[in-house]
Amino acid sequence: MASGALLFIAVHMLAAASRAMAQMPAPSSALTLCLVDGPPELAQSTTTLVKEGELLNLTEASHRLQGLSVDLVSAVFHQVLGWPVNVRYTTGFSKTLYQTRIGDGCNVTVTSIFKAARRETCDSECTLPPDASKLSGEDFEPYTCCLDFSHTYFSGGWSLMSKQQSGTTINYISVFFQRDIVHAIAVAVIGMFFVAHVIWLFERRMYGLRNRDLPLYFQFRPKYLDGLKDGTWFASSTVLGDVGAGMKLPVTPAGRLLSIVWVMFGLFLLSFVTSIISSTLTEAKLRSDEILTVADVAGKRVCMQAGFYEYVFSSSFPAVGIQKTTYEAKIDCFYALKNDEVDAVFGVREEFVNYFSQGLGSGLLASPVIKSQEYCIAFAEGWPYAPHVNAALLTFREGIMATQPSYKDMIDRWYSGDANVATYGGKANTTEEDWSWGLIGTAIAFVVIYMLLQIFVFIVAYMTKSGQQEEKDAQQFGSAKSGMSASMK
Ligand SMILES: *[C@@H]1O[C@H](CO)[C@@H](O)[C@H](O)[C@H]1NC(C)=O
Ligand SMILES: *[C@@H]1O[C@H](CO)[C@@H](O)[C@H](O)[C@H]1NC(C)=O
Repeated sequence: MASGALLFIAVHMLAAASRAMAQMPAPSSALTLCLVDGPPELAQSTTTLVKEGELLNLTEASHRLQGLSVDLVSAVFHQVLGWPVNVRYTTGFSKTLYQTRIGDGCNVTVTSIFKAARRETCDSECTLPPDASKLSGEDFEPYTCCLDFSHTYFSGGWSLMSKQQSGTTINYISVFFQRDIVHAIAVAVIGMFFVAHVIWLFERRMYGLRNRDLPLYFQFRPKYLDGLKDGTWFASSTVLGDVGAGMKLPVTPAGRLLSIVWVMFGLFLLSFVTSIISSTLTEAKLRSDEILTVADVAGKRVCMQAGFYEYVFSSSFPAVGIQKTTYEAKIDCFYALKNDEVDAVFGVREEFVNYFSQGLGSGLLASPVIKSQEYCIAFAEGWPYAPHVNAALLTFREGIMATQPSYKDMIDRWYSGDANVATYGGKANTTEEDWSWGLIGTAIAFVVIYMLLQIFVFIVAYMTKSGQQEEKDAQQFGSAKSGMSASMK
């Protein structure tokens, strides 16, 4: 109890200290945080749409916008740092980064930005556009450099989306007749003929001789073809563990010894076959054809957005040969996957998760991240407040200070938690795995009919018996009475 209270005080002192430290150099005027539209980081949440470039205070922003960016800036800049901030709503990713670089209306950009070396370079390669007023939207991409990145707030990245597989498509023929089992059966058959001959050789001399008390059909007939029939029947039923069921009983010591060895061989054989079948079935259940790693798409049809996504795939996985389909719009790949035109979609996991969160991912699956990317906040190169933002970000991540929402809640809500495990978009159609109620019902019906019959028979038997008993009693009584009356007479 006492240590708990101490810990509580310590944590609060630490939080207060970190807040005091962070608050010290608060900027003199409110910061402008530029948030770029694109779920799950940012989306409009009311019908009164926020216009491109509109400046909102934080209260208003959290009413009219939603997404991870809103939670993040509220926790880091407002709750941990306690700085006055405004939020600017923008739509062009590259343009916003460029504005942040040159300090034009944006101090900080928050969106799904990956930390990338190219954006951090700040040398002669990083030029300014000759006439920025002529450029629009993504034209700014070559000039989005000379930026600094904060610490990582989330490790997400590239992933593969595919259809969920039920994993129940087991081919039983190929399981039961796999090579090892067929070989084992072949050995058993050869052994069976061998044993059939040997047991016949041992036992034929005994036929009808010294065991008169053993019926003849338990014995091995001395003629070759008859005896071979008896021997084969004995050997094949014995190897399956059915000693005696073959109705042939060896009586010579040699024959009995051979039987024991042969039964032992049968036990080994059965357990060998059983273990192979059970391990194959287990494996088949585990190794469903779900696409969880990049190796799983080798040779398969993969869809991706033309341009940057294509470049990322070919440069990150040059050794993986795929049948590539590209579309200008990512959503077309999603439709292609649903229509079975492709086997997988390559893209950013957080986009898939966002698609799932709209209830559109039923039967789909996003693989764990196959190439991770660090999500960071961007600011201009050498921005003096960067260390404070980094400290606040760590405070938020580590949960040192209570925030609303907590870091974990924020990640769970917008990114569906851990990026290193597969994320399922919703339950697939499970008709295949349904119980066969027809089968179970028939079995139950048979049991019920059987039991009813038994009860019926029991009742009938009881009634007839008690009827007979009464008759008997009556007879006995009558005879006793007559006897008595006779003796009385
Ligand atoms: C935020 O902006 C709205 C509308 O512009 C205003 O009504 C509200 O008072 C502002 N809140 C703060 C805390 O400044
Ligand atoms: C934020 O950006 C504005 C220009 O958009 C600039 O005047 C101001 O100094 C910046 N604030 C900080 C703290 O960098």
